[in-house]
Amino acid sequence: MKFYIIAFLIFASFGVDIDKNTFSNYKEVKMQHLHIEWLLNLRSKIIDGSAEYTFKVTTAELKEVHLDIYQMEIKYAYYPNVGKVLDWHVESDPKQSLVQGDKLIIKLGQSYKYGDIFQLRIKYQIGEAARALSFMSIEQTDDKKAPYLFSQCEANNCRSMIPLQDTPSIKFTYSATVLTQDSQINVFMSGLPVKNNKFALMEQYNMNGIAKIFQFELNIKIPAYLIAIVAGTVQEKATSQRTSVISEAKNIDIYQKELEDLDKYVKYLEDYIGEYKWGFYKIVILPASFPFGGMENPLLTFANPSIIVGDKSGVSVAIHEIAHSWFGNTVTCNNWSNMWINEGFCVFLERKGLLQLFGEIDYVYVNSQVGTKEMNALIKEFNSSTDPVIKSYASLHPITEDHNADDSFSTIPYERGYQLLFYLESVISEIKFQQLLKDWLRQNEYQSADENDFYNFMIVWIKSNFTIEQFLAIKQQIDTVYTKWIYDTGSPPVKLGFINDASTQATDLAEDWLSSRPGEQPQGFEIFNQFKSNQKQLFLSYMQEKYTNLNTITMKQLDLSYNLSDNKDAELLFRWYTLSIQTKYATTNTNLNKIRTFVGKIGRMKMINPIYKALDKNTAQTWYDENKNFYHPLAKQSIENIIKSKSQYVNVELL
Ligand code: BES
Ligand code: ZN
Repeated sequence: MKFYIIAFLIFASFGVDIDKNTFSNYKEVKMQHLHIEWLLNLRSKIIDGSAEYTFKVTTAELKEVHLDIYQMEIKYAYYPNVGKVLDWHVESDPKQSLVQGDKLIIKLGQSYKYGDIFQLRIKYQIGEAARALSFMSIEQTDDKKAPYLFSQCEANNCRSMIPLQDTPSIKFTYSATVLTQDSQINVFMSGLPVKNNKFALMEQYNMNGIAKIFQFELNIKIPAYLIAIVAGTVQEKATSQRTSVISEAKNIDIYQKELEDLDKYVKYLEDYIGEYKWGFYKIVILPASFPFGGMENPLLTFANPSIIVGDKSGVSVAIHEIAHSWFGNTVTCNNWSNMWINEGFCVFLERKGLLQLFGEIDYVYVNSQVGTKEMNALIKEFNSSTDPVIKSYASLHPITEDHNADDSFSTIPYERGYQLLFYLESVISEIKFQQLLKDWLRQNEYQSADENDFYNFMIVWIKSNFTIEQFLAIKQQIDTVYTKWIYDTGSPPVKLGFINDASTQATDLAEDWLSSRPGEQPQGFEIFNQFKSNQKQLFLSYMQEKYTNLNTITMKQLDLSYNLSDNKDAELLFRWYTLSIQTKYATTNTNLNKIRTFVGKIGRMKMINPIYKALDKNTAQTWYDENKNFYHPLAKQSIENIIKSKSQYVNVELL
């Protein structure tokens, strides 16, 4: 009997940490080190690649290695030392091929046993079908001197750049050699640049065509989704001894000025959570087509230029990405159903940093309230779906099996996750929770974890840091909410409002506008101009929530009073533009053309998707066709999905 219970427990605990979004046999064999060699041909948008893997066997008998791939051409697989060529084939499910990719099966030609370590090499080629990569032509760059390339691997896109075990539960060290054919092109990767050609070339090249060789290495273990590359006429400018900004020449001075306090942000977070262990912190301001606000590639955060507002109001994105150096990059979710282990914890730490930046908790709670509003709207939308997969997106444990993990991406893991941690902090006290988080990091450093690991860790921690009576009371309190918070698709079991003076100022003003007579400005309306960006965001999200009560006359008054359609802050613009479409204020006589320009100038999905969602099908299609070449493959995919899901063809107002 005892045996069965133990066997069941082991089985149950294995069951949960399986990553259903990988085709690899990562439970049987594990990547320990990856070395890649890439020859960039950016003019023809082709990369010749070689990858060398060091694998460790974790099963009794291993005869095959299965790797994830997406739309790439495999040339051959071989053993590096003996040069023996290996049999391989691709197992492809037509329904999955363009969703999650295919399985590359390599027959090892012998069997390995538990604990064996061996190396393999694969030679392959990738091109524009690689959905992690954006190949930009010279005309699409700021400097107009050379083509440009950048990657975005999270969640499961690394498999389109490199055949590998594309799961956040596998961590490995990596190194890279990148050869370019244009001497103006500079390359950066998410690792340390290495000088003096440390790594010998794996392939033989015609060196006449090679202009420069770049090498990188990262000796801290990372998951595949943190591999990143940028290549173009990019340069680096220091902002302190350990921080710098990288971008094309055109705007680099502006970016450097806006991000001059990077070092201070790192220190704010270190004050709360402990030492920054990655050495340098660099941030690349990418072209505006970068589909996210920021991406936490280690030693090389990527960011969208929309975070550079001119008044430093967009730097919270940088603080968020720095916070991932601990949550996400040091302790990582072990599959994409657990994304909140990255994002929820990261937002929690980000807001600890923002407290130091803003100096007042009220302003931090304004961010929490904006997030809560957006979360509540999404919970309502997802939870009312009849499709169990969509419904699960309202929880902290979305179903990702058979889907592109990106489909479940929304603000839910951020805010629902943040709220859970905020609540737990209120249960055990700020000081204790800070120590708990530090210990969680230490215990799981360079590993991956999920919600069960966190729960188990937390319970043991509380037991040894409180009296037995306190422990029992706290445990009961946590047990009442924890699983509901994670698995339920309705609102979290405890309602957190984050209401305070700073947020009330914003929502009261919004209320005054909603109840003002058409054409009239409410008393004291000028206070808006003194608001911080996040209060203005809250004002607009409050309006969005009640948009059916807004008429076009009031919208016009708002626009005139606050110059909203010409704002410099993209966080405000996208909300205002979405609202303009929702309320039918947007016409060719008002701001419709400005919105059309906006979606052609910025490719950040968070900002353009809501606009495409609000548009009628015809207009969305027309605007999309105009800007297709500008968007990143990931943005293209998501906008195409938005358009596909629209039923109506006509909206007379907008034609
Ligand atoms: N890691 C995310 C971006 C991401 C998530 C990319 C999932 C692909 C799949 C990054 O840290 C992030 O959260 N970026 C936010 C910024 C933020 C301040 C919440 C963004 O891009 O808006
Ligand atoms: Zn994040």
